[in-house]
Amino acid sequence: MDEHTLKNDLKVVGVVGAGTMGIGICEVAARYGQRVVLFDVNKASAEHAVGALHERLRKSAFKGKISKQEVKETIDRIQVVDDLAHFSSCDLVIEAIIEDLVIKQELFKRLEVITSSLALLATNTSSISITAIAAGMKDPSRLFGMHFFNPAPVMKLVEVIAGQQTNPEWLKQAKAICKYWKKVPVLAQSSPGFIVNRVARSYYGEPLKMMQEGLATFYHIDTVMTEAAGFRMGPFALMDLIGIDVNYAVSQTVYKAMFNDPRFRPSLIQGEMVAANTLGKKTKQGFYNHHEGAANPKVDYVHRDAQFNQLTVPEEETFFSEMFCDFEYNQRKWQGDKVIVSGCELRLSDGRLAKEVAAESEMPVCLVDLSFNYKKSKTINLCFSPEVNQFMKNRIVACFNQMGKNVLVTDDQPALIALRTIVMLINEAADAVFNGVCSAKDVDLSMRYGVNYPKGLLAFAEELGWGHVASTLENLHQWFGDDRYRLSPYIRHLSKPSREI
Ligand SMILES: NC(=O)c1ccc[n+]([C@@H]2O[C@H](COP(=O)([O-])OP(=O)(O)OC[C@H]3O[C@@H](n4cnc5c(N)ncnc54)[C@H](O)[C@@H]3O)[C@@H](O)[C@H]2O)c1
Repeated sequence: MDEHTLKNDLKVVGVVGAGTMGIGICEVAARYGQRVVLFDVNKASAEHAVGALHERLRKSAFKGKISKQEVKETIDRIQVVDDLAHFSSCDLVIEAIIEDLVIKQELFKRLEVITSSLALLATNTSSISITAIAAGMKDPSRLFGMHFFNPAPVMKLVEVIAGQQTNPEWLKQAKAICKYWKKVPVLAQSSPGFIVNRVARSYYGEPLKMMQEGLATFYHIDTVMTEAAGFRMGPFALMDLIGIDVNYAVSQTVYKAMFNDPRFRPSLIQGEMVAANTLGKKTKQGFYNHHEGAANPKVDYVHRDAQFNQLTVPEEETFFSEMFCDFEYNQRKWQGDKVIVSGCELRLSDGRLAKEVAAESEMPVCLVDLSFNYKKSKTINLCFSPEVNQFMKNRIVACFNQMGKNVLVTDDQPALIALRTIVMLINEAADAVFNGVCSAKDVDLSMRYGVNYPKGLLAFAEELGWGHVASTLENLHQWFGDDRYRLSPYIRHLSKPSREI
């Protein structure tokens, strides 16, 4: 459907549920010129939600982000109704009610009778199988998922989800509507967590496991994931924002739906926090203390102003060595095949301990954690093999300090912090593609536009090298002896060299 056809065909959009998501979806449709009918079991709360939206838009107009005329037209297009019978003229209905299978099934049973057989019927569920909701309908081919992200008017991603019996024609039309609303639609098969909530589990699960293992504090991990790796928010700050109970519930649902696959195993730490009612921002105490004026712990950066007497960088710039290329120290920079600072080799971790790497290297080893962009990163996370003495450590830290970077040091541990988390995310993204949940292109779009990752995970794996991703995961698998770290066949395939023709 082109834009012109859509303008003619998509006149009335029905939204059921006037909560956080429902009112956001109303705003999107009304801003793009559709008439919206809004129904909620609680009519007063629907009217209140429209009033609050009006207030929000007025504030935007005051700041000059939108015209007063647009505010009036948007609000005038939204009509709160007290009966689903008003949905008979809808071209598209999006349901955003309570997350309950039976209540959603009942609703769609009614909607398929009230609406025309050509009307599109979509659910915004974040965790229930589309196939299961559709199973209650006379014509299950009509239902699909249209999963918006919060806040719906701001977040670009919409997962368009196919149930087992969904008519592909509806999916095409749904994608066209999303594009018309300037969203980024991706196509997913109905499966636990769909794309984003499945792949992103590792962003919480792996840092929680590291904390459980006592490898680092939650604030050290958050600092590494933001300042060193390049994510917008650290996993622990993000869990506090989402709500520990909500995050724990999604983790449990996905784990159960995946038949207890160890990759999705929820964390005991979260279970304990839910029991203690320390649920994050909403209870003012989660990993962080959110009471007004509360002081939270901060990481200890290591700073040294020692002079270092040698810096060698590889002649051919690698992904890891790129950060050294513009750095000149007293013009004393040698070209070689490794990064060497004062007799110590600096390497990107590959999932082995620094002491294992040093055992096969000719010199002491400092392992560096992963970053999406080493040149831009503010902080660098390191660990050392036992032979690295204080003299060398001081010089390595000084070298990074002089490059304008803060330094954090962790104990010698496999894959450090960012690398361990990112390879687990890549493994999950790859496995979603391997299992037919979505395409490689869509999994990358999903993580960029649904959760604001700095890069698509598979595109980044390509940059880093599939071989490096594969060996890191295999080293983690061997170290922990836990199937949680088993390599997706998708990566195994890409990491094998093909015969040159
Ligand atoms: N909140 C999020 O971040 C988010 C993100 C994506 C998807 N979702 C999904 O969107 C849906 C709505 O979530 P929300 O956060 O907006 O919930 P919410 O609790 O803010 O709002 C739900 C609204 O639905 C109404 N409602 C309940 N049962 C109803 C019924 N039978 N008929 C009509 N109205 C009914 C309630 O009165 C309430 O106003 C859920 O399926 C949720 O999983 C939520």
